[in-house]
Amino acid sequence: ETIYAVINGDDTDGEKIRQAGEILKAGGLVAFPTETVYGLGGDALNPDSSRKIYAAKGRPSDNPLIVHICRWEDIYRIADPVPEATQRLCEAFWPGPLTMILPKKDTVPDETTGGLDTVAVRFPSHPVAQRLIDAAGGFVAAPSANASGKPSPTMAEYVAEDMNGRIEMILDGGAVGIGLESTIVDLTGGEPTVLRPGYVTQEMLEKVLGDVAVDRTILDGTTAERPKAPGMKYRHYAPKGDLAIVEGEPEAVTEYINRLCAEAAAAGKKTGVIGTDETFSSYAADSVKTVGSRGDEEAIARSLYRILREFDDEEVEVMYSESFSTYGMGQAIMNRLLKAAGHRVITV
Ligand code: TXA
Ligand code: MG
Repeated sequence: ETIYAVINGDDTDGEKIRQAGEILKAGGLVAFPTETVYGLGGDALNPDSSRKIYAAKGRPSDNPLIVHICRWEDIYRIADPVPEATQRLCEAFWPGPLTMILPKKDTVPDETTGGLDTVAVRFPSHPVAQRLIDAAGGFVAAPSANASGKPSPTMAEYVAEDMNGRIEMILDGGAVGIGLESTIVDLTGGEPTVLRPGYVTQEMLEKVLGDVAVDRTILDGTTAERPKAPGMKYRHYAPKGDLAIVEGEPEAVTEYINRLCAEAAAAGKKTGVIGTDETFSSYAADSVKTVGSRGDEEAIARSLYRILREFDDEEVEVMYSESFSTYGMGQAIMNRLLKAAGHRVITV
């Protein structure tokens, strides 16, 4: 049975985190909070642990895992060579929601990197994550702690829904702060390239590095190119029902979404709308949710996955969402929303 341990404030002697560290050292799996989303951790240097992670998630094993560390210097134990840009990014953004792709050392098993000769490394800022990584020996492989195909968990309750009985332990550190997965930047090619947008934006990276490229597939569903982060090709973050994004002038969008919902309701479907604090009260649907105020990107990021899960729980069949700006962190928000919608966008 999965041990469920609440950490907020009541693990002052560190006993539960020590126990979790022992489980990881012994090859078991522990879910834990990070500042982005909950992770499903295993010993990154143990190939059996990585195999167990794929099995617990129901995830294809060609999809590489991120290795989480808790000391800057430990990067040299898993990556070589470490490019000069890495140092500058560490100083600016670590610990924090940034993952770097680097050439890997042989210490990292192929099972952890899905057979790639590169490794994804992240030093999270969440104190529970840091203490757990330390207790586990310093290297924890962790994908998001959702079952494959579900939105990443922003609360331990969601981890339990997906992982109960499949892993040894869940550490509950409360709701996460950011709500979308870390920014991934590839430093193994010529120009640094964002493979997955997140809280650390292209603009923030460019202040430190100069020009930074962005993988074209991030916002463009029509390109035939394959995403460079293997995991980005899967239809992640997908709600059970059908979701489409409606974009245009605000009033026209509200009117159009209401019309589409009325049609779906007439066809006997349960309907849902993702709106904002500003538009929330203008919608007529079975379930209307707000991501927060339109200008508050951090609130939107924090609530998006929770809302998608709530629609699943309520068995909503047809959903429409407003569209959001793609500037700054909006790039990450729209990337996840477009994927959840299978890139279905209606322009009114
Ligand atoms: O915020 C996060 O990054 C969370 C928390 C738990 O740290 N983790 C997370 O892991 O989102 P996951 O496994 O759900 O997503 C990892 C992404 C995948 O898209 C994977 O393909 C990509 O990182 N990735 C990992 N290693 C890679 C590599 N060597 N080259 C290119 N992409 C890589
Ligand atoms: Mg994931």
